[in-house]
Amino acid sequence: YTVTVDATGSGAAIPDNLYGVFFEDINSAADGGLYAELVVNRSFEYDTADNAAYTPLTGWTALGGNPRVVDDAGRLHERNRRYLLLDLPGGVANAGYNTGIPLARGQRYDLSVHARTTGAATPLTVSLTDAAGAALTAPLRLTVRGTGWAEYTGTLTARAATTTGRLRVSAGGTGTLALDMVSLFPRDTFLGRPNGMRRDLAEKIAALRPGFVRFPGGCLVNTGSHYGYEAPDWERRRSYQWKDTIGPVEQRATNANFWGYNQSYGLGYHEYFQFAEDIGAMPLPVVPALVTGCGQNRATDDPALLRRHIQDTLDLIEFANGPVDSPWGARRAAMGHPRPFGLTHLAVGNEENLPDEYFARFTQFRAAIQARYPEITVVGNSGPDDTGATFDRLWQLNRDAGVAMVDEHYYNSPGWFLENNERYDDYDRAGPKVFLGEYASQDNRFRNALAEAAYLTGIERNADVVSLASYAPLLANEDHVQWRPDLIWFNNHASWGSASYEVQKLFMTNTGDRVVPSEATGTPSTLEPITGAVGLSTWATSAAYDDVRVTSARGDELFADDFSGTAERWTPIAGQGDWSVVDGRYVQSDAVAENTLVSAGDPSWRDYDLDVRATKLSG
Ligand code: AHR
Repeated sequence: YTVTVDATGSGAAIPDNLYGVFFEDINSAADGGLYAELVVNRSFEYDTADNAAYTPLTGWTALGGNPRVVDDAGRLHERNRRYLLLDLPGGVANAGYNTGIPLARGQRYDLSVHARTTGAATPLTVSLTDAAGAALTAPLRLTVRGTGWAEYTGTLTARAATTTGRLRVSAGGTGTLALDMVSLFPRDTFLGRPNGMRRDLAEKIAALRPGFVRFPGGCLVNTGSHYGYEAPDWERRRSYQWKDTIGPVEQRATNANFWGYNQSYGLGYHEYFQFAEDIGAMPLPVVPALVTGCGQNRATDDPALLRRHIQDTLDLIEFANGPVDSPWGARRAAMGHPRPFGLTHLAVGNEENLPDEYFARFTQFRAAIQARYPEITVVGNSGPDDTGATFDRLWQLNRDAGVAMVDEHYYNSPGWFLENNERYDDYDRAGPKVFLGEYASQDNRFRNALAEAAYLTGIERNADVVSLASYAPLLANEDHVQWRPDLIWFNNHASWGSASYEVQKLFMTNTGDRVVPSEATGTPSTLEPITGAVGLSTWATSAAYDDVRVTSARGDELFADDFSGTAERWTPIAGQGDWSVVDGRYVQSDAVAENTLVSAGDPSWRDYDLDVRATKLSG
């Protein structure tokens, strides 16, 4: 077939930063992921109330001395409330993330620990071992003195490689020893930055040459909502508030995040800004709008709380851009970055379900920001879907108010992406620009990547209205998958890009300056989107399926499964719990019941699921 290009013609100019990345702390993307810290639960703040699988000693095992976690006035800091207490002699070992602490032969690892003792001079020995306890480093010997907290540091060099290492901390003498912030970083972080990023992951992100980084979420920022939690919590708990995430790491509170696990905030706003700068990307933070969003429908009417969040957002802009003699600019300078970070865009809200309630709050944020920082582009929201009443209402509100840019999100089947290449051809050129903050076809297979590549040609053709576009979440720890698709996958020692990563890289590193008219003739129909005719022949119980058949509109049987074998041909739907085959039926785990999208007999859900699988490659 033939593609004819009119190189002299001119179409939309393509912004240099059209393609970016979306980082959310989901799938354990931060701790145990991009954030290079190797010790899990380093400040003993894990809490059963946040996750039933946690205790304050999660990740730690006793090596003697009755280790226990204490929360009293002897704490290291008011926001780092718990610490470990040992009777001497005693000790603990840390298990690291995934299978353990990964060590590379000859590499150096920087240890730091805060400690105090009732002993005269307490000898503290730190070493890295294999899972059986055999030493892989020479012991690091420190002496803890005094009843006041002090930081002790040292370096360990691995003499052998492992992916199942352990950190052992043991102390002699008499009396008690208190420990907190037991931290171990590879010296070899991205660009060698202290408190830095894991190099392989950061390099894979940098290799995309992203034009921007959207962070820190996603639903993570939707204050007041939490996956599976009923009661809204408008205050700190389970909500991401940027001021919690800056300053000395031992003074940062940890928190349960939206996705149900502990976040240390070691990777905080300063680190996000620094990382964006390091990879040449525009930072694009998202702040909560005081409406729940993300599938829940609540809004707070607490004006004082709203005022505080608006003030926090103004302070965030000052933290990023203010002079060093401004209160928040001074905080940035104290963290080692006197120069401004050059923040230009900021989004308020994520996947908002309550259009009018959201927009009333957004309007107040926007007015306050524009009054003080008219140069900042404030990005509005269009809800969780690519279409529908919420989407339409939010677009109308944004358009009527002259909002500069609106965030769109959609996760759809490969067929949808093939059929919707022209989505933006008819968007109003005089209205708000589109920030496509999250999109992906619903899996990480080759056909998904192919459908996304086809779709991106439509994005580029419409680069005069789509200003920014970032794929689904950037990272997924293979042992903590809460959402797929994702761009880059990893475990404690390796990382690999998905097929979609390769597509993103192709487009991100080959962005043109402008669109030129082109025409293709004789295009073979290698992709045949199948649009419907899905038949579930049996509903077994409210949460089980049996004998599923999927046929195309033409009547072709695409596949049938009576679930007498394994579930391996099935892929769990992102965020909707686990699936498995039990007694010849395909069943949902309890987690699915938490998701409002899934309910027995919900036809929209059936379409959503099976449409993914009803797209076939042919020809
Ligand atoms: O990226 C995963 C989730 O998908 C995000 O938190 C949310 O914005 C979207 O629904």
